[in-house]
Amino acid sequence: MEDKITKIEEQILKELKNVISLDKLNEVRVKALGKKSEFSMLLKEMVNLSGDERKELGKRINETKNLIKDRIDEAALNIKENIKKERIKRESIDISLPGKKQNHGSLHPITKTVLEIKSIVSEMGFDISDGPEVELVKYNFDALNIPKTHPSREKTDTFYITDEVVLRTQTSPMQIRYMLEHKPPFRMISLGKVYRPDYDVSHTPMFHQVEGLMVGEDVSFANFKAMLELIVKRIFGQERKVRFRPHFFPFTEPSAEMDVECGVCKGKGCRVCKNSGWLEILGSGMVNPKVLEAGGIDPKKYQGFAFGIGLERVTMLKYGIDDLRAFFENDIRFLEQF
Ligand code: DAH
Repeated sequence: MEDKITKIEEQILKELKNVISLDKLNEVRVKALGKKSEFSMLLKEMVNLSGDERKELGKRINETKNLIKDRIDEAALNIKENIKKERIKRESIDISLPGKKQNHGSLHPITKTVLEIKSIVSEMGFDISDGPEVELVKYNFDALNIPKTHPSREKTDTFYITDEVVLRTQTSPMQIRYMLEHKPPFRMISLGKVYRPDYDVSHTPMFHQVEGLMVGEDVSFANFKAMLELIVKRIFGQERKVRFRPHFFPFTEPSAEMDVECGVCKGKGCRVCKNSGWLEILGSGMVNPKVLEAGGIDPKKYQGFAFGIGLERVTMLKYGIDDLRAFFENDIRFLEQF
């Protein structure tokens, strides 16, 4: 019987060595120590032995079972420890690996210019006003003193929706809308989209303009010059030279265009400025009395000035962009640079 016990013990310890899962370990536990184990069988066979022998063997069996139990508990701890180590290995992060690139959006260059101009003129007390892109012919042309025969009214130059309604070709109708709703003195600015049927390197069917209007009892030509110079220098930098050049617009009298020094050649003359050293940047003038009248304002009492700036042009000059169409193609590689 002694031998039998030793053999069973050896057999179980050998099996234990190969166990790597808790399920398998449980099977061994049941087989070695359960009610139907070989030890239980041996204990049953012992009824035939004498008292002393039975005592001796019983003691031996119990000691062996205790030893096996300890080994099984030990094995269980080891297996659990290994499972934990495996999991930590699996879930660990190598913080020295390069990170995943996160793509983030940025403001469109036109939007940046819009925000910048808004911020500059807000500081100067201008009211920011929005108006419709679908506009009445009455406001887009008639009230602005644009003759019925003016070429800009042609179907080749204006998108007509009906005979009386167009996609606005300029932000200037906002002058009329604002005058009809506000009593002078006031200064307002309006930024937005305008539409004309053109498409080439320097024209897109939709583009952006800023309209400015200041009206009061004693708004002089000197105020007009000083104010515009201030705004334009805030946009382009104090060092940039600017100049006024006489021009004609139906809605202003007298009218002027403003040029800024060419940023590419610093006024020396180059391909971009067609060797003149200057780039045209805005249209402006003292508001034509007929336009004040159309806006319900008495031209004998009030006067004012107005200006219109092309936003794409400003943005191109600021950032040195040479193809207008780049703004509208939404090429990520272009937009990412801003
Ligand atoms: N509306 C003109 C255009 O689209 C720009 C302009 C010129 C606006 C003179 C003005 C102005 O307010 O006084 O070409």
